[in-house]
Amino acid sequence: MPGTAHPLTETVGIEITGCRPAELLTLDAAADTRSALDRHGVVIYRDLHISDDELVDFSRLLGTVVLQPTGEHNHPEIQTITMDPNKTNALLASYRQGNFHWHIDGATESIPQKATLLTAREIDPAGGDTEFATTYAAYSALSESEQRELDSLQVLHSFAQAQSLANPDATEPERASWDRVPTRVHPLVWTRRNGRKSMLLGATAQEIVGWPASKGRALLDKLLAWSTQPRFTLRQKWQKGDLVIWDNTGMLHRALHFEPTSVRLLHRTTLAGEESVQG
Ligand code: OGA
Ligand code: MN
Repeated sequence: MPGTAHPLTETVGIEITGCRPAELLTLDAAADTRSALDRHGVVIYRDLHISDDELVDFSRLLGTVVLQPTGEHNHPEIQTITMDPNKTNALLASYRQGNFHWHIDGATESIPQKATLLTAREIDPAGGDTEFATTYAAYSALSESEQRELDSLQVLHSFAQAQSLANPDATEPERASWDRVPTRVHPLVWTRRNGRKSMLLGATAQEIVGWPASKGRALLDKLLAWSTQPRFTLRQKWQKGDLVIWDNTGMLHRALHFEPTSVRLLHRTTLAGEESVQG
């Protein structure tokens, strides 16, 4: 792997310094990045200053890049992550309020995205860090009997659930538009072909299938609190030019507070899911 790697915590994250974008654009560097992603969940290339063209090229070396229908950027692969309606449209700015709550990207899709890449174009000195929590480590740290109780459960995920957390004062027409996004049931515990297990939790998790609503809510809230304890989390304090990649199939993540008028601007690509969700 080009540059110098430093693991960040016991459970999650590796940081690489001293790497230039051109060095990443090789099959070997992409393979190294993928294995670092599997092993550490979050890979941070500090001070990389990757261009938009290079970001798309590197994403293509890592996997299948999802095309974005939003037309936010001249590259159809790139999303502009900002809350400022002058830099994006008002609807997207409102949806992105959801980023302040722990979530997994694409949880209402049949296969959630494999990974997300975010690079900082403009940062906010007053806030806007990003936090990650590994549900691989959180699941492993449960007792065997707790794991067994979770292994058979199914969770209903909905866009409306996530948006009602983020936009509690929404109007009826807004709520009706959220309800038009199809919901999805996934196993709570996702078992990979390689035997590793993570949990699909977060803002979209609405109920445990077949359980009374309040009992399901209590378990989902308890598991989210368990998984986001400091020992399972990593906080990324952005510097301009950082590139952060996370294994979205096992990392919850959220943005920490920043003002909607902030200059904060991240460019994002996503890699399509590769393995169907199996219990
Ligand atoms: C995202 C996301 C968090 C952030 O782009 O998927 O959740 O800190 N971003 O902007
Ligand atoms: Mn996200």
